[in-house]
Amino acid sequence: MFRCARRTGVPNRDELRAAFNSKTKAIIICNPNNPTGKVFTPNEMEFIAGLCQEFDALCFTDEIYEHILYPRAGAEIAHISMAQIDGMRDRTVIVNSMSKTYSVTDGALVTASRHRKSPARSQSFMTS
Ligand SMILES: Cc1ncc(COP(=O)(O)O)c(C=O)c1O
Repeated sequence: MFRCARRTGVPNRDELRAAFNSKTKAIIICNPNNPTGKVFTPNEMEFIAGLCQEFDALCFTDEIYEHILYPRAGAEIAHISMAQIDGMRDRTVIVNSMSKTYSVTDGALVTASRHRKSPARSQSFMTS
């Protein structure tokens, strides 16, 4: 398991790159993160996306807190989905649910767009 810096939540790029190899199938990220509240910057997202593309890996991204952001002094915080990053739509699996934002519990929504022609054809699964 790769860990971001404890205090800042910033990934060390050399260490993250070193964690990828030809056997890497996927990376799992939680963005915004629970429990740290860290939201990856566009630059950090692009770096992770670049690794996924270079090593032909998927990105499973837990975005359950996408609407619950905690502003920090001097930092502009905005959530973007990994699927929005260039070249990532077809290799991103988004995990989300309505429990945090809408207090609707007992369900998880998983959306994968790999091998689909358009977002509208993405598949969603309800689990509990
Ligand atoms: C980051 C994260 N993802 C997923 C879940 C699961 O959410 P749910 O209550 O909808 O099963 C939680 C629950 O705390 C969470 O913190």
